[in-house]
Amino acid sequence: MGYVNLVFFMLFPFLCHLSFSSSLPHLCTKDQALALLQFKHMFTINHDAFDRCFHITGQSIQSYPKTLSWNKSTDCCSWDGVYCDETTGQVIELNLTCSKLQGKFHSNSSVFQLSNLKRIDLSNNNFSGSYISPKFGEFSSLTHLDLSDSRFAGLIPAEISRLSKLQFLSIKSDPYEIRFEPHNFELILKNLTRLRELYLVYVNISSTIPLNLSSYLTTLWLPFTQLYGVLTERVFHLSNLESLDLSDNPQLTVRFPTTKWNSSASLVKLDLSGVNATGRIPESFGHLTTMRTLELYSCSLSGSIPKSLWNLTNIEDLNLGYNHLEGPISDLFRFGKLRSLSLVNNNLDGQLEFLSFNRSLTQFEYLDFSLNSLTGPIPSNVSGMQNLQFLYLSSNHLNETIPSWIFSLPSLYDLDLSDNHFSGNIQEFKSKILDIVSLKQNQLQGPIPKTLLNQRDLYSLVLSHNNLSGLIASTICNLKTLEVLDLGSNNLEGTIPLCLGELTRLLILDFSNNSLSGTINTTFSIGNQLIVIKFDGNKLEGRVPQSLINCKYLELLDLGNNELNDTFPKWLRALLNLKILRLRSNKFVGSIKDSSTYKFAQIRIIDLSSNGFTGDLPVGLFENFEAMKINGEKSGTREYVADIYYTNSFIVTTKGLDLELPRVLTTNIIIDLSRNRFEGNIPSIIGDLVGLRTLNLSHNRLEGHIPESLHQLSVLESLDLSSNKIRGEIPQQLASLKSLEVLNLSHNHLVGCIPKGKQFDTFENSSYQGNDGLRGLPLSKDCGGNEGVPQATTPNGLDQEEEEGDSSIISWQAVFMGYGCGLVIGLSIIYIMLSTQYPAWFSRMDVELEHKILTRMKKHKKRH
Ligand SMILES: *[C@@H]1O[C@H](CO)[C@@H](O)[C@H](O)[C@H]1NC(C)=O
Ligand SMILES: *[C@@H]1O[C@H](CO)[C@@H](O)[C@H](O)[C@H]1NC(C)=O
Ligand SMILES: *[C@@H]1O[C@H](CO)[C@@H](O)[C@H](O)[C@H]1NC(C)=O
Ligand SMILES: *[C@@H]1O[C@H](CO)[C@@H](O)[C@H](O)[C@H]1NC(C)=O
Ligand SMILES: *[C@@H]1O[C@H](CO)[C@@H](O)[C@H](O)[C@H]1NC(C)=O
Ligand SMILES: *[C@@H]1O[C@H](CO)[C@@H](O)[C@H](O)[C@H]1NC(C)=O
Ligand SMILES: *[C@@H]1O[C@H](CO)[C@@H](O)[C@H](O)[C@H]1NC(C)=O
Ligand SMILES: *[C@@H]1O[C@H](CO)[C@@H](O)[C@H](O)[C@H]1NC(C)=O
Ligand SMILES: *[C@@H]1O[C@H](CO)[C@@H](O)[C@H](O)[C@H]1NC(C)=O
Ligand SMILES: *[C@@H]1O[C@H](CO)[C@@H](O)[C@H](O)[C@H]1NC(C)=O
Ligand SMILES: *[C@@H]1O[C@H](CO)[C@@H](O)[C@H](O)[C@H]1NC(C)=O
Repeated sequence: MGYVNLVFFMLFPFLCHLSFSSSLPHLCTKDQALALLQFKHMFTINHDAFDRCFHITGQSIQSYPKTLSWNKSTDCCSWDGVYCDETTGQVIELNLTCSKLQGKFHSNSSVFQLSNLKRIDLSNNNFSGSYISPKFGEFSSLTHLDLSDSRFAGLIPAEISRLSKLQFLSIKSDPYEIRFEPHNFELILKNLTRLRELYLVYVNISSTIPLNLSSYLTTLWLPFTQLYGVLTERVFHLSNLESLDLSDNPQLTVRFPTTKWNSSASLVKLDLSGVNATGRIPESFGHLTTMRTLELYSCSLSGSIPKSLWNLTNIEDLNLGYNHLEGPISDLFRFGKLRSLSLVNNNLDGQLEFLSFNRSLTQFEYLDFSLNSLTGPIPSNVSGMQNLQFLYLSSNHLNETIPSWIFSLPSLYDLDLSDNHFSGNIQEFKSKILDIVSLKQNQLQGPIPKTLLNQRDLYSLVLSHNNLSGLIASTICNLKTLEVLDLGSNNLEGTIPLCLGELTRLLILDFSNNSLSGTINTTFSIGNQLIVIKFDGNKLEGRVPQSLINCKYLELLDLGNNELNDTFPKWLRALLNLKILRLRSNKFVGSIKDSSTYKFAQIRIIDLSSNGFTGDLPVGLFENFEAMKINGEKSGTREYVADIYYTNSFIVTTKGLDLELPRVLTTNIIIDLSRNRFEGNIPSIIGDLVGLRTLNLSHNRLEGHIPESLHQLSVLESLDLSSNKIRGEIPQQLASLKSLEVLNLSHNHLVGCIPKGKQFDTFENSSYQGNDGLRGLPLSKDCGGNEGVPQATTPNGLDQEEEEGDSSIISWQAVFMGYGCGLVIGLSIIYIMLSTQYPAWFSRMDVELEHKILTRMKKHKKRH
C-alpha cells in the first residue's frame, strides 16, 4: 500500500503530463469516463433511500451514493464502484449496489459502451420499472451480473443466454414483476454452462425445472417463482451443490431421494418450504451431515420426525413448522449446534421434561413449539438457556406455573405462552429488552409485574383472558414504543390512566371486560395512531371523551356495556375511518336525529342498543352510511373491515416472509338500535342500505308501517322489528328476501296475510305472535278465512332474550372474518377477532395467523 502510494507520487507529474495525450494504458480512457458520466447523469440520487440494504444472500450492505464521487477531474478508475484492469485501464467491473440511484434505465444507456465489463452489480437501486435491456447479452466477458432488488420489470431477455462465461446471475424483482417467456428459462440454464450461482427470486418463471442443470452449480435459489411439475431427483445429485432454495412454489412437487444424496458431501443449506412434498421425511436426510440450515416449513409433511435427523450434527437452523408431523416431542433434541428450532403447528405431543436433562442448550436463540399438543408443566430445573431470545410455546396444553428460569432469561426479546393452562403469578422479568410479551388465555393471576412496565422496546403486551387483578399503574405510560396493549378480560380495577394518550405509537388499546371505573378522562393526543379502542364491559361512567376526535385512524370504537351517560357523540363523524361503533348497554340519552349532515361514511356496524335514546330514527344518519349502500356480493367490490396496508414499515419482501394470509370476505353490515325509546316511523331510506345483513329495531316505540323498500335488502339475514307499535300489513314484496334466516315481527299491531314464499315458509309462529290480526301460515288462522286469534305459542320472555343475545354474538363475530394482509392489519384484526368471542371453529385459524405474523415479523427483525 505504502509502496504503491510512493510509486504513484513519484510518477504523478509524469502521469499528469501523459494523461493529456491519453496514451498511458492503466489510466481510464476518456471515452470510458464519458460513458460513465453519461450513465451517472441518467439518474437522480434518492437521499431518502434506506442507509442499509441487503445482498441477495442476506448480507447487509451500507448504502451510499457512489456516483457522487464521479467527476472529470479524477481518474475514473478511482471512482467509487468502478474497477479497471490494471494493465489495460479498461473498466472491467461496475459495482453500484446500494447507490440510491433512481430513474429509468434505457436501452441506449452509455453503460453498454463499456464492452469489457466482467462484473456488473446494479442491485438495490430504483430503476422504477425499467426493462432489462437485451444489450446485457452483448457483454461477452461477463462473469457476474446482479440486477436484484432494483425494480426492473418485464421480460428477461433471451439474449442473457449468450453470456456464456456467466458464473453468477441474480435477479429479484417486486413480486412477479419480472418474467420469462416460455422456454427462455430452459434456454438460459442450457446455455450458461459455467453458471455457479443462480438467484432468481419473485421472478415469474412459470415452468418446470429443466433436466440439464450445470454441474458447476453451487447455489440454486428459485424461491417464489411459480415453478410447477415434479422436481427431478437429479437436482439433489448435483455434485457441487451447497445451497438449494426452491421454497414457496406450491405447485412444485418434490420427492426426496430415499437413498443416498450424491451432494451429501457439500449441501449446507436446503430450503423447500412451501413446496408440495407430501409424505414422510425419509431417513435419508441423515446423510446430509454437512447441513447447517434445513427448512421444510409448510410442505405437507406427515409421520414422525426420523431419528436419523440426529446425525445432522452440524445443523444450526431447523424449521419443520406448519406440517402434520406427529409423535412425542421428547425423542428430539440431540442437536449440539442448533440455534434455531421451529416445530410450530404440527401434531407433536408429549411433555417438555427433556429440557431439564439436556446439556446442550446454551447455543439456543430461537425456539418455537407453538400450536402443537404438548402437555404437562414446563420443567422448572432448566439451565443453560441464557442465550434464548425467542420463546414461543403458545396454543398447547401446558399447565402449572410458569417456571422462574423463563422470567430470568437475560436476553429474551419475545415470550409467547398464550393459550395454555398456566396458573400462578407473572414474575418480574430479568430481560430489559423485551419486544413482545403475550400470555393471554391462561389462568394467570396477581398484578401486572412492574418490570413489564419498565421496558424500552416493548411493542406488544397482551395479557388478556386471565385473572389478573390490581390497578393499571400509570407507569404503563413509560412504554413509549407500545403498539398493542391488550389487558382485556381480567379483573383489573381502578381508573384508566390519564397519561395513556402519551403512547403515540399505540395502534390497539384494549381494556375491555375488567372492572375499571371512573370517567374516561384520558386525553388522546393529536397525531395518535390508534386503530382500535375497546373499553367495553367495565363500569366506566361520565361522558365519551372529546379527545377521541384526535384518533384520526380509529376504525373500531367499543364503549359498550358500561355506565356512560352522555348524548350521542355525533362529533365522532369527524373520524373518517370509523367502521365499527358500539355503544350498547350504557345510559346514553337524547335524540340522535340531527339536522346537520352526519358523515359516518365508512360505518359497517353501528350498535346503540339498550340505551335511553329517544326521538325519531335518524334519517340523516342513514343517508350517510355510504358503506352500507354497497352490496359487496353483487357489485364484486369486496369490502374489508379495517383493511389497511402499512407498506413501508412492515410489509416484507424478503424471502420467506410472505404472509399468505387468508383474505376472507366480510360484508357483514349491522344496524342495531334495539331497546331504546325511538319513536315515529321506520324511514324507507333504510331500503337503500342494500349491504345490510342484520337490522334490529326491536323494543322501541316505533309506529307506522313496515316500509316496502325493505325488499331491496337482498342480503338481509336477520330482521327484528319486534315489540314496537308497528301497524298495517307485512308488505308482500318482503317475500323476495331470499337470504332472510331470522325474522321477528312479534308484539306489534300487524294485520293481514303473512307473505308466502321460500324464506317465509320457514319461519315459525314465534316470528309473528302477539300481533292483532295476522293470518296465514304458520299461524293457525288461514289467510282469507275467518278472523280469529292466532294460535297461542310458547311464552317468550327469557328465552327470547337469550336467543337474541346468541344471534347477535354470531353476527358480531362473523364480521371479523375478513381482513387483508400486512402485518399491522393482521395484528389488529386478529386482535379484534380474539377479543370478541369468536366461534370455536374459527379459533385455530386465527391463532395460526397471529402466530405467523408475530414470528415472521421477528424473523425479519432478527435478520436485520
Ligand atoms: C472531484 O472529486 C474529488 C475527490 O472526490 C473532489 O476533491 C473534487 O472537489 C471534485 N471536483 C468536482 C469539480 O466536483
Ligand atoms: C435514450 O432513450 C430514451 C427513451 O427511449 C430517451 O428519452 C433518451 O433521450 C435517450 N437518451 C439518449 C442519450 O439518447
Ligand atoms: C458489489 O459489492 C458488494 C459489497 O459492497 C459485494 O457484496 C458484491 O459481491 C459486489 N458485487 C459483485 C458482483 O462483485
Ligand atoms: C422509485 O422511483 C419512482 C420514480 O422513478 C418513484 O415513484 C418511487 O416512489 C420510487 N420507489 C421507492 C421505493 O423509492
Ligand atoms: C447459446 O450459446 C452459444 C455459444 O455459447 C451461442 O452461440 C448461442 O447463440 C447461444 N444461444 C442463444 C439462444 O443465446
Ligand atoms: C406468471 O406467468 C403466467 C404466464 O406466463 C401467468 O399465467 C401467471 O398469471 C403469472 N403469475 C403471476 C403471479 O403473475
Ligand atoms: C402434491 O403431490 C401429490 C403427490 O405427491 C399430488 O397428488 C398432488 O396433486 C400434488 N399437489 C399439487 C398442488 O401439485
Ligand atoms: C446415523 O449415525 C449412526 C451412527 O452414529 C449410523 O449407525 C446410522 O446409520 C446413521 N444414519 C443415517 C441415516 O445416516
Ligand atoms: C398438568 O397436565 C398433566 C398432563 O396432562 C396432568 O397429568 C396434570 O394433572 C396437570 N396438572 C394440573 C395441576 O392440572
Ligand atoms: C378524572 O376522573 C376522575 C374520576 O374518575 C376525577 O376524580 C378526576 O378529577 C378527573 N381528572 C381530570 C383531569 O378531569
Ligand atoms: C350523568 O351522571 C351524573 C352522575 O350520576 C349526573 O350528575 C349527570 O347529570 C349525568 N349526565 C347526563 C348527561 O345524564
